[in-house]
Parts: sequence; C-alpha cells; structure tokens
Amino acid sequence: MTPPQPPPLPTAELHVHIEGTLEPELAFRLAARNRIALRHADLDALRRAYAFRDLQSFLDLYYELTAVLQRPEDFTDLAEAYLARAAAQGVRHAEVFVDPQAHTSRGVPLEVVFEGLGAAFATAEQRYGLTSQLIVCFLRDRDPAEAEALVPRLRPYRDLVVGVGLDSAEVGHPPELFERAYALAADEGLHRVAHAGEEGPPSYVWSALDRLGVERVDHGIRSLEDPALVARLRAEQLPLTVCPLSNVALRCVPDLTAHPLRRMLAAELAVTVNSDDPAYFGGYLHDNTAAVTAALGLTPGERQRLAENSFRASFLPAADKERHLVAVAAAARATASGA
Ligand code: HPA
Ligand code: ZN
Repeated sequence: MTPPQPPPLPTAELHVHIEGTLEPELAFRLAARNRIALRHADLDALRRAYAFRDLQSFLDLYYELTAVLQRPEDFTDLAEAYLARAAAQGVRHAEVFVDPQAHTSRGVPLEVVFEGLGAAFATAEQRYGLTSQLIVCFLRDRDPAEAEALVPRLRPYRDLVVGVGLDSAEVGHPPELFERAYALAADEGLHRVAHAGEEGPPSYVWSALDRLGVERVDHGIRSLEDPALVARLRAEQLPLTVCPLSNVALRCVPDLTAHPLRRMLAAELAVTVNSDDPAYFGGYLHDNTAAVTAALGLTPGERQRLAENSFRASFLPAADKERHLVAVAAAARATASGA
C-alpha cells in the first residue's frame, strides 16, 4: 500500500507550458469541433504515442497536437481546463508559458492566442482563487530574428504578459543566439527566464545567466555537473524551476529515486517543483510534489521550503509574496497538527 499523501500546500507554478496541458480527450474534442483529422485513430492510439525517448520525440507530438487549437475559444477551453486542475492541486499563482510561434507559424494570428488565453485568465482569480500571467517563450530551434520581431508585438498584452522565456529543442541552440531578443525584452520591462541545462550542458546555464540576464533558470538540473556554477546559483539564490515527472518521461533522469532534487536542496539552491507539460508527463503540480516526496523521502520541512521558494521566485509584487508565504506557513502548521 502507498503511504497516505500529505495535502497540497499553497504553491506558485512557475514552469508549465499551456500547450502541454492539452489532455488527449480535449485534443480529440477540439479536433472534431474544428474538423481536423488527427493521425491517431482514437484515444487509445494517441495514448500509446506518449512514450518518449528524449525531448525531441516529445516535441514532435506536442507540436503536432497544437493543430487542434484554431480559434480563441479553443485557447480559452485549454486554459480553463488547466486553471481548474491547477487550483485543485494547491496552485494559487501561475506564470504560464506560451509558444506563440507554434501557432503563428501555422497561420493562427497572435491575437487569437492572447485573446483566447486572456479570457480564461481574466476570470481565474474570481472563480478559482488563482492569479495567472503569461511568459512568452521564443522557440530556440527557429530563427532568432523571429524572436526579435515578436517582442514589440507583445506591447498590447502587457497586463497579461509578465516576461519572456526560451524553449523547444535545446541541444545545438545555445542561449546566446537570443541575446538581442532578450535585450529588447529587457528594454520593454519584461522579466526574463530560459530553459537551460535540461538536456543541454552547464555552459548553456552560464550563457543564460551572463548573456541573457535571466532571473530564473528553467530545469537547470545539469548545473550539478559544474561546482562553480552551483556555487554561483547558491550565492545568488537564483531560482531553478525543476520538473521531476518531465525529467523521467524525457529520460533526462533514469527514475524518480535518482532525481537530483534532493541534492539541489542539500546544496541550498533555490529550487521549485513544477509540472512542465502535465498532460504528457503524468501529472500536475501536486502530483509532481507527491511523487518526488515519496521517491526521495522529502521531509515536511523540505516541502514547505519548496512551496516558499515558489512564491519567492515568482514575479509577484512583494506584498503578494508576503501574503502567500503567510498562507504556506499556516497550511504547513495545519498539516503538522493533523488539522
Ligand atoms: N523543454 C523544452 N521545450 C519545451 C518543453 C520542455 O520540457 N515543453 C514544451 N516545450
Ligand atoms: Zn519546460
């Protein structure tokens, strides 16, 4: 029997791709609504495709299924479903990645993406007690000039968009290629994060820090291979958004018991736990926390630290961070006393 799991603590989700929350059932529903034929005959056939060798084999399916997202209401339905699930798993604030180029490159206008997602985000606080904003990711396996052209187009959506990020196929596409795009984003007052050290080497993490000026590193697990980098990340308390179930699904880590999260906590890095692409990797935020708690034997104190780190690492105003930190402490006390 599995031991009883502690309930979720209030947490900020800082690493989730909205396109990665597309559950297979919703993919089929939207395909039917938009009269799009998927390559997979039915749900079972699609589910069989969810066995990945590496990041690229996942990305192939992830981009293929974005074809069902056509109209604003498709993006609204996608975001609604994510926000409801996230709220049920303790998420109180979400900074959600979106890949506009995955849509504009197939002829879906930027306005459709932002209007659709924005409609769901606008009512999430009232409906689910969850605040949410977007981080626009540049696709690193496309021409950096596209990323540079995207930055000024974000101006009308500044209430919705809090920052920029960098995702897609990592190896062979180092951060420094996007130095100019990040400088433009900084000039616009946007926050900056980047995926680095997921499959790519520690040198990509250095480059994200020094050339892009990132305020958080997404994944960053390969940083542990470089003691000088670990020292820097610890000294600056630069947050790393770690995604345990993703790392196992994409074979960056052989299994959860071998996951480096515990070593990262021991090294006093500012780590957070996140879900990445929950519809593809087997779970939302608390599913990740619960799985890694069981596999690594995390203590209640470590779980509290992860939840606190998530709010500290968020782009929320200081007063909001403080309010959430008080709520985490209260929830942790209630869990400890069995209330
Ligand atoms: N890594 C890189 N790019 C991505 C991912 C990921 O895990 N998910 C969606 N785009
Ligand atoms: Zn990611």
